[in-house]
Amino acid sequence: VDDVWGVVVAAGSGTRFGRAKQFVVVGDKPVVEWSVSACREALGHVVVVLPPGATDCAFGADLVVAGGATRSASVRNGLDAVPPSARVVVVHDAARPLARPDLFRDVVDALHPPEIVGAVCAVPLADTVKRIERSEAGTFGGRVVATLDREELVIVQTPQAFLAHVLRRAHQQGGDATDDAALVEAIGGVVRVVAGDPRNVKLTGPEDLPYFEQRLGS
Ligand code: CTP
Ligand code: MG
Repeated sequence: VDDVWGVVVAAGSGTRFGRAKQFVVVGDKPVVEWSVSACREALGHVVVVLPPGATDCAFGADLVVAGGATRSASVRNGLDAVPPSARVVVVHDAARPLARPDLFRDVVDALHPPEIVGAVCAVPLADTVKRIERSEAGTFGGRVVATLDREELVIVQTPQAFLAHVLRRAHQQGGDATDDAALVEAIGGVVRVVAGDPRNVKLTGPEDLPYFEQRLGS
């Protein structure tokens, strides 16, 4: 699979965590190194996208590039470094160091061109989800508009795999979304859902750390 490349995005600032969470050491390595390592084991070739000014260490990746102001901009910078020969690109959040190599292989295997040009891993919802009317204060204080059918919803994770030329086209106009599949969907690309791993949560706030310590710690 010489034509499959991973892009691990690690250029965020960790606002909710309080600092750049991708560099926090859990077990014996920084979070970003766990993520690059799993990606590399599965795919062989990885670009890591780091904050401008923190591009001196590759964390085991083949190529290092500086990120942008948003996650999507960081993915675009990573994509620009992926060789033109790559047929498939897998995008992964550095903040998900618990993704196993098998999950990377599963999303790649789910691609089925020309119909299926993208694949995301996802898990079912445990909670009830409601659509709300946003109030002046934001999320809270407004009315419930509807209760959604949980069976029709999933929580989407990374890794996410795409035909390289489709992902490049999806990112061509710029654009900003919380995942890459959204940009591919927006240009009409069909994205398949595969079983994710409930343990593959994203390190978001400091309260999440003990969970990661327990899974990756010595
Ligand atoms: N990311 C990135 N470039 C950005 C923003 C985010 O490469 N400009 C990366 C993060 O490093 C992370 C992944 O995208 O691995 C998912 O983003 P998120 O969990 O939101 O991380 P942060 O943006 O760093 O955190 P916060 O939103 O709390 O600031
Ligand atoms: Mg963010």
